[in-house]
Amino acid sequence: MPAAAPLRVLGVASEMFPLLKTGGLADVVGALPAALARCGVELHTLLPGHPAVLAALTGPQVVAQWPDWFGGPARLLAARHGDTPLLVLDAPHLHARHGNPYLDATGRDWPDNPVRYAALALAAAQLSWGEVPAFVPDLVHAHDWQAALVPAYQHYLGAGRRRLPSVLTIHNLAFQGHFEAETWPHLRLPDIAFAIEGLEYHGGIGFLKAGLQFADAITTVSPTYAREILTPAGGMGLDAMLRWRAAAVSGIVNGLDTTAWSPADDPHLAQRYDAHTLPRREANRRAVEQAFGLPPDDSLLLCMVSRLTAQKGIDLVAAALDGIVAAGARLVVLGTGDAAIEAALRAAAARHPTRVALRIGYDEGLSHLLHGGADAILVPSRFEPCGLTQLSGLRYGCVPVVSRVGGLADTVIDANHAALAAGVATGIVFDELSPQGVLQAVQRCLDLHADAPRWRALQLAGLRSEVGWRASAAEYAALYRRLVAAPPPHASGSPLP
Ligand code: ADP
Ligand code: GLC
Repeated sequence: MPAAAPLRVLGVASEMFPLLKTGGLADVVGALPAALARCGVELHTLLPGHPAVLAALTGPQVVAQWPDWFGGPARLLAARHGDTPLLVLDAPHLHARHGNPYLDATGRDWPDNPVRYAALALAAAQLSWGEVPAFVPDLVHAHDWQAALVPAYQHYLGAGRRRLPSVLTIHNLAFQGHFEAETWPHLRLPDIAFAIEGLEYHGGIGFLKAGLQFADAITTVSPTYAREILTPAGGMGLDAMLRWRAAAVSGIVNGLDTTAWSPADDPHLAQRYDAHTLPRREANRRAVEQAFGLPPDDSLLLCMVSRLTAQKGIDLVAAALDGIVAAGARLVVLGTGDAAIEAALRAAAARHPTRVALRIGYDEGLSHLLHGGADAILVPSRFEPCGLTQLSGLRYGCVPVVSRVGGLADTVIDANHAALAAGVATGIVFDELSPQGVLQAVQRCLDLHADAPRWRALQLAGLRSEVGWRASAAEYAALYRRLVAAPPPHASGSPLP
């Protein structure tokens, strides 16, 4: 029997590992093409032509040109990065800016962000209409607010054109792309779209809101987060809209790129290891201590690798740190973010110079070393759509200690009595989001760590757990096929009931 033709999917995103990354979105967008290729899906990802993206392209070819694309000339390039097929919107007036793609050098949002990402979304819509012969997709998959206008352009400008099914993935509902109404004339949409059943949101413009309105399927990055966002507590103002679209909402848990994260052949480790050679982690622990200027010690070493923001609950850890140190644990933190959280951590490190250390910055190699050398990784998030560091923790025998929210609840099995007895526990999951709750979780971690055979069992169960993309890529592929086989009736633009 001849093999079925691959499904051709257009991905649309603002960042992609290893080209450009500010968070887990890039990891997911970077891992999906290879994972989906194994499911018979050919995923071409459209990215903005940020300098870091343009510099990483192999064999770029101009496949479309637009003399006036939102205020300047633009070219659409088809290219590859390694085996990954890419499409790049090369619009220097919008994206030729070094550093963080969303922020200027002073840390403020670029004022033209709505235009920059509208331009990306309209380019994607053009591709969806089959107007670029070099790549004619069967479905479009947009990620987060930066790509969320794709279904809106399809809806408002698609009359008489082929209508492709669309998927919109929410990676973090905290970022919704809200802008002032003054931007409206620049978005190239008909005035009828500036309405409650379109892009209007509390008098301004809501990119994510518009995408949620018109996407055929809405996914988010874990089943628990998919339920949380339907509630007023987790919906961040969009829960009514999400409940209205509840039949289209589902959760597909993120995977980890197990090629990039593999302790048996990780070039960033002082000593590589696998499930049979766990004691070799010791050399990595010593390397971590050295990198952070801590004296060698055998007591429990906790780590965090994170954006330093309220979402991640790091302030709770800072408030609990004196207790954590008094209980006998140590902590090393690698991260960047809020100045206030950074200052609280710095103060704690100054109080406990031999037990707490902090490295401000983004450092991929050091992050790998921490996973390979620390005993446990702390992820006490207030909310967490999925989270990736608990997955990399599992893969490295660095036991995750996590709050019971979102994807953390879906990916770590708490070391309760039954799970320990059955040998399936992989970490510690705690409920109380407070300094006291964090301290109690660390105390449980210390108790387990003191019981060497139990600790080893916990590490091994984590190392052996399935954290790759196989199952989740198959879920995306099945969703795509369902939508392509039976395109849903035109996503309604009717007002909320
Ligand atoms: P989020 O996307 O909300 O920041 P995730 O856990 O999904 O959280 O993804 C964060 C990604 O960024 C992970 O791959 C993590 O290892 C990485 N990361 C975060 N902070 C740092 C840092 N300071 N240095 C290196 N890697 C980091
Ligand atoms: C977001 C979320 C994080 C998730 C990542 C990738 O940044 O905060 O939980 O893992 O996106 O989906």
